[in-house]
Amino acid sequence: MMSFPQGFLWGAGTSAYQIEGHYGRGESVWDVFCRRPGAVEGGGDGSRACDSFLRWREDVALVKELGLTAYRFSTGWSRVMPDGAHPDPKALDHYERFTDALLEAGAEPVLTLNHWDMPASLTWAERSTVDAFATYAEAVAGRLADRVTWWITQNEPWIIALLGYQLGLHAPGVADLGTAVQAGHHVLLGHGAAADVLHAYPGTKAGAALSLFPCDPATDSEEDRAAAVGSDGYVNRWYLDPLLGDGYPADMRAHWERALGHGLDFVRDGDEAAIGGRSDFLGINYYTRRVMAAAPPGPFPWRVVGPSGDVARTDEGWEISPGSLRDLLVGLSRRFPGTPLMVTENGGVFGDAPTHDGQVHDTRRIAFLRDHVEAVRQAVEAGADVRGYLHWSLMDNFEWALGYRPRFGLVHVDHATGARTVKDSGRYYARLIAAGGAAPALPRIEAFG
Ligand code: FCB
Repeated sequence: MMSFPQGFLWGAGTSAYQIEGHYGRGESVWDVFCRRPGAVEGGGDGSRACDSFLRWREDVALVKELGLTAYRFSTGWSRVMPDGAHPDPKALDHYERFTDALLEAGAEPVLTLNHWDMPASLTWAERSTVDAFATYAEAVAGRLADRVTWWITQNEPWIIALLGYQLGLHAPGVADLGTAVQAGHHVLLGHGAAADVLHAYPGTKAGAALSLFPCDPATDSEEDRAAAVGSDGYVNRWYLDPLLGDGYPADMRAHWERALGHGLDFVRDGDEAAIGGRSDFLGINYYTRRVMAAAPPGPFPWRVVGPSGDVARTDEGWEISPGSLRDLLVGLSRRFPGTPLMVTENGGVFGDAPTHDGQVHDTRRIAFLRDHVEAVRQAVEAGADVRGYLHWSLMDNFEWALGYRPRFGLVHVDHATGARTVKDSGRYYARLIAAGGAAPALPRIEAFG
């Protein structure tokens, strides 16, 4: 049985707004959004989160305790550039100390520049934000490019456009389809601009992390198969293709022009060239797949019907489908040979709380982790060039509009006290990493389909 390549990165991820707390930073679009009545389940916000800005040494100690060889974190855009234009040296000092501590703990930093907490003065609806993002990238790279190799420019452009600008369910809370398509384009231009900044620093690797959802037709009918292709275009190809140098896919471009009733004039000459050909790797955030059926004509002639029958699901109801991750990685490596892949997020909500012994026996997360790592191994065996697996998340945190309810962590966080407790899954992951990716035997655990 083939195992993981030498130097494969085993890690976990977090992001600034979800864990740091507001101490010392500028106002973020998420601070503003969280004040909207009803915007966040339970009415929470990121003002305290996991208090990681103050407790960061504990977080690094956890990284070390688990033996992670990589840690994905984001520099808070609203912390580094409180007013959106000028860097705060104190914030950069913090991230410099943090990065040094990670390296000392034996973990490769994987640094995300935009994990959604942009300064409140900026919006992706405006093209000028691309320049502001490049200025921010320059400020961070100027300090850290000598010790950080892996840089993620943008986290999940589709989710930013969809939830932030199309449905208004995430900051900045805009609900307008045309604005969403335009904002998505600016996010991609931001990737290109930041990658150019990074490439002035030798040895850096720049990539975006895309939320990729394999789209399967619900039935074999021609209509459902077309729905799956359309949904794949909307969710995946619209971002993948331009990033990896193929430009916007013609079918989706025509689709948006029809849906919006006008040409995409915000895509200017030269834009696609400024987005493509700049990715040293592709980050893949994988959670679940979409099972699609045809819907009536309109901007979205497809709908998610989910898998039928009794399938394994997380506590958030998402189907657990590790085989889709394997197929996704294999498919991407065939379509984009020469572009290394990294699983930059993968995880699930399992709400297990500490029991009478003070421990968190999250056996379903263990099975989830084991089965997804096995899927990655199979992809590697099939020839996919995968460089790392970063579980989401190191710890329970502020899950955006869902507040503090969903728990994604390998480490439990008591949100009243901030106390951290390594869950059984965290310990399991530590053993798996120590064994070079070989799954420790846990006889009581049933594999998920
Ligand atoms: C992704 C986000 C991450 C977290 C996970 C559950 O969409 O990048 O911050 O919310 O989902």
